[in-house]
Amino acid sequence: MDRNRILELAADMTLEEKAMQMTQLSPDMLYHLSPSNLTGPLREWKFDDKQLWETGSVLGPSGAAYLRKLQEDYLKTSRQKIPLLFMSDVIHGYVTIMPIPLAQGCTFDPGLCEEAAAVVAAESAAAGLHVTFSPMADLVRDPRWGRVMESCGEDPCLNGRMAAAMVRGYQGENPGDKGRIAACVKHFAAYGQPEGGREYNTVDMSRGVLRDFYLPAYREAIRAGAALVMTSFNTVERIPATCSKLLLRRILRQEWGFEGVVISDYAAVEELMNHSVAADALEAGEKCIHAGMDIEMMSGVYAGTLKALLEQGRITEEEIDECVIRILELKNRLGLFENPWKDADEQEEKELLYCQKHLDTARRAARESMVLLKNQGALPLGEAGKVGLAGPFACTGNLLGGWHCEGRPENTRSLGEALQEKLGDRLVTAMTEPFAWGGERDVPDGAEEAALGLKDCEICIVAAGEPEWETGEASSKTNLRLSRNQEKLIHALHAAGKRVVLVLFSGRPLEIGPVLEDCDAVLQAWFPGSAGADAVADILCGSYNPSGHLSMSFPRSVGQIPVYYNYYNTGRPAEAKADSYVTGYRDCPNSPLFPFGYGLSYTDFVCEGLKISWAGDLLKASVRVRNTGKRSGGTVVQLYIRDVSASVVRPVKELRDFRKVFLEPDEEMQVEFSITEDMLSFYDEQEKWGWEPGEFDIMTGLDSEQVETRRIFVPAGAGREA
Ligand code: GLC
Repeated sequence: MDRNRILELAADMTLEEKAMQMTQLSPDMLYHLSPSNLTGPLREWKFDDKQLWETGSVLGPSGAAYLRKLQEDYLKTSRQKIPLLFMSDVIHGYVTIMPIPLAQGCTFDPGLCEEAAAVVAAESAAAGLHVTFSPMADLVRDPRWGRVMESCGEDPCLNGRMAAAMVRGYQGENPGDKGRIAACVKHFAAYGQPEGGREYNTVDMSRGVLRDFYLPAYREAIRAGAALVMTSFNTVERIPATCSKLLLRRILRQEWGFEGVVISDYAAVEELMNHSVAADALEAGEKCIHAGMDIEMMSGVYAGTLKALLEQGRITEEEIDECVIRILELKNRLGLFENPWKDADEQEEKELLYCQKHLDTARRAARESMVLLKNQGALPLGEAGKVGLAGPFACTGNLLGGWHCEGRPENTRSLGEALQEKLGDRLVTAMTEPFAWGGERDVPDGAEEAALGLKDCEICIVAAGEPEWETGEASSKTNLRLSRNQEKLIHALHAAGKRVVLVLFSGRPLEIGPVLEDCDAVLQAWFPGSAGADAVADILCGSYNPSGHLSMSFPRSVGQIPVYYNYYNTGRPAEAKADSYVTGYRDCPNSPLFPFGYGLSYTDFVCEGLKISWAGDLLKASVRVRNTGKRSGGTVVQLYIRDVSASVVRPVKELRDFRKVFLEPDEEMQVEFSITEDMLSFYDEQEKWGWEPGEFDIMTGLDSEQVETRRIFVPAGAGREA
């Protein structure tokens, strides 16, 4: 449909129709299903039937048959036959569940991430969905916050590359194409830094920190073409993001040129009153309209106030039309006017959902996302001897992680099943009772039973971690240790002389310092998704050599949080002098237990011989990486840059590029990185983007701590001439 037709449609709409087009409700509401589905503010709003069936989009429906019927019922009543938009939280899988995004970040493989997102899109589209509320591009540094699982970690470059890859995977060339869905990048902005890691808490940071760390990944998703942006619950500079003109008008639309749809998070419009920036619903509606916030999710402020705001001259018809036209243009971009059902197809669903091809992708993504944190010769498992398996994640399908959409733990293979297939009767299990959903926050004490039951096993795998229902939204925690009986199990097996292999299932870095010494090996498996158990078994038994590198630092203790690699140096850096008047703690080193970018392998790699030269846009960095071990494997060559002195403080290092390489034994590769002016640039005190002449440290390595450094002076005017 051409734009003129869109404008005509908008012009023909009544104000009530426009207000409902700008409102997103639950489909249950349209069918008058139990009001218990309504949470919070929706109970207060009294939508009449006409309003319900004029809402422009619905949240969370799924299934081709259901969505075809819903669209048919909707169009029967729609005066202008404007199709309904179906949006849902398909965060890391629809039925075939991929590893959680924090794990996908550890692959350092945007291509694989894009492939995984394309699988997610294909399944979602066949099930009739149009939009997914993904990627979540919030930068995260605080594992007390449960939603770190949805992010690709603590680094702006990695987060941005992965967010862009997901957008490409979901949308392809055009989200209206078959098997594609529109991406909604969220939560704009900086939701990932709630004070104290406490969910929904205040976010407050300088403009410079917002620019340096928290905005870049959203921008990368917009540059990749994300069709929607979701505003975050939190404030930015004391203004809720949902009505922030700084974020929504100046940065998103003016600076970044975003022309798509902005949708609020769940009831965030009405929550302006809780934030105490709106005395009533009228003021909440007025502020969001002035900020250009198009769709109100699951509250009724727009429906209840736009008419009055217009009559009182507090908003204009043009502001309303601006929002409505963007929504109609999104529906048009998805081809819904020509085909309101898009790809909803029950036969396709049967063929695509959970098909082997998709499970194969999930298995590759899971294998590449796991990080070997420690290995003192325990892995890979030997060819003979009994292998013990214990712990709450040994025999459960609860490996999918939060937001697992239509994925079913009951249909998900357990680690026990996957290991049984590879080890046969070598496998002996004990104390495998899983966490009881919503029950005790620990498992029964079975340490003695396990030590007895596994007495014939020289090596014991302990499948431990945090219950998946303790991760994701509304899941902040102050204690990140393994539960007491899980720690007791590890200590008991170690005390019984067993070699302990800890396999960690979690949605965040946990505080594993208390058990690390008693473990001969530690594999961070995250919540690895539908094929996660097979991926763990592939790694433990050696058919896959782990290649994951951490997307987020592991703290030594919760008291150390936030701990991250790209910190500002301070005036008293810890290395400055050997007395206590430097930045630090009396009882803990400043460094994390395991740093960003870290990951071990079953082989060894050397990264050396860094050379810097003038070339291309500006500079070229070249470094040699070699597999010095006895088996093939993958690693991640990382390029960091430090601006040694500038008009504002700069991080001690910033990831600017990375390359995942797979090498045979004795194979070596020369890895080259182009260093552009953008890579040296930052927002200065006047928020002007650019770089400043001076010395820069160029660093390469296989994690953020062990790096080789070359210092180079970059004079004014360089780059344009070179
Ligand atoms: C939730 C989340 C958001 C999600 C939305 C719709 O509260 O904050 O990430 O997309 O509501 O479910």
